[in-house]
Amino acid sequence: MTLKNSDELEPGNEVKEDIFNRDGSLLVSRGTIINYEITSKLKKHDINFGAAVEEAASSIQSTPLIEEEKMQTSIRAVQNVFESVMQRDVGGVKANIPEDQLALVGEVIADLMAILMRSEDLLYTVTNLMASDDYTYRHSVNVCILSIMTANAMGYSDGEIRDIALGSLLHDIGKANVKYGLIQKPSPLTESEKEEMMKHSEYGYELIKDIEIIPYSVKQIVRFHHEKLDGSGYPLGLKKMEIPEYVRIVTLCDMFDAMTANRSYRKRMPVHLALEVLMRDAVYKIDAGVYRKMTSTVCIFPPGQGVLLSDGRVGIVSAYRIHSPSRPKVKLIEFCLKTGQLEVTEINLEACHTLFIVDTWDVADFNSFFTRIPEKEFFDPENVDVGTVIGLKQTNVS
Ligand SMILES: [Fe+2]
Repeated sequence: MTLKNSDELEPGNEVKEDIFNRDGSLLVSRGTIINYEITSKLKKHDINFGAAVEEAASSIQSTPLIEEEKMQTSIRAVQNVFESVMQRDVGGVKANIPEDQLALVGEVIADLMAILMRSEDLLYTVTNLMASDDYTYRHSVNVCILSIMTANAMGYSDGEIRDIALGSLLHDIGKANVKYGLIQKPSPLTESEKEEMMKHSEYGYELIKDIEIIPYSVKQIVRFHHEKLDGSGYPLGLKKMEIPEYVRIVTLCDMFDAMTANRSYRKRMPVHLALEVLMRDAVYKIDAGVYRKMTSTVCIFPPGQGVLLSDGRVGIVSAYRIHSPSRPKVKLIEFCLKTGQLEVTEINLEACHTLFIVDTWDVADFNSFFTRIPEKEFFDPENVDVGTVIGLKQTNVS
């Protein structure tokens, strides 16, 4: 079924064959008499969403928290540390972290702190990059950025934040010593591979425990960043106060970034959903106080995020105000009955107190959002609100 075919369906004619959509769901049964309502619904069914989504998205300006160039410098510094550790190990020399590499990492941290702590009016924004070879290194930098912001919000001193930042950049350093290939594996790990991977926190601790210039707190972060308050974590199964608060900060930021990152074998979780899942853990596994502070630093609906509003309309977040990030401006994509076209308009949710964001969708994968609503309801005579079916609200133009 395509729009071209639906144009040929004149009101008053009888449908000769069942009409299916692209996914094989029945749209109109054989024998149905075509009327205006059916033809107009058929047209709406085959609207070019892609062009409208592109139009709405292309006009949205989004400034990253950290410029990509600086991200790349930070990522390379972490990568250099990992690679020097791996090379030394292969050569039979006891693995260690060269001091010049640590100095470089220290510069990266100073740079990030200067940017992130110059203003309280900054929110951490998840970037929507696809998985790549440098996932582990980029993840380490993301965890570092979020840990700096969370620790800052919690009132830690500059020196303490510097140590937390170093701990978060190095938290997965032990992965350099797990079996070759696992760190870059593009698919989910098997059970035995998971067991091997779980050794990375002890491996990491072994790597840095004798390096005097690395603070004790950093060594604890590397060793304990997978411990959980209820004792279900590893490697030691520590509980509650046995896990220092600065470790809990990195643990939470590590979990959040892992959930909201795209991987080659699974899609990222939207920010609001990741925060909800973590909130469940905040009851017994993670620190509820740290969770509250971390969420206050995170932009829940960043510009470029596709959203579904409580009245059935869809749109893309275009801008937000720092003090009201859950009520951003949204570029709406609406179907205009008069023109039969999709139109893009903007709405400010701060001024619309009865409207809420109830779901999100990925602009790069809008099709899976628009098609997940059961289309068999499409021609239910009792259900004529197309907006609830295809996620669009009609614009009434007189
Ligand atoms: Fe880890």
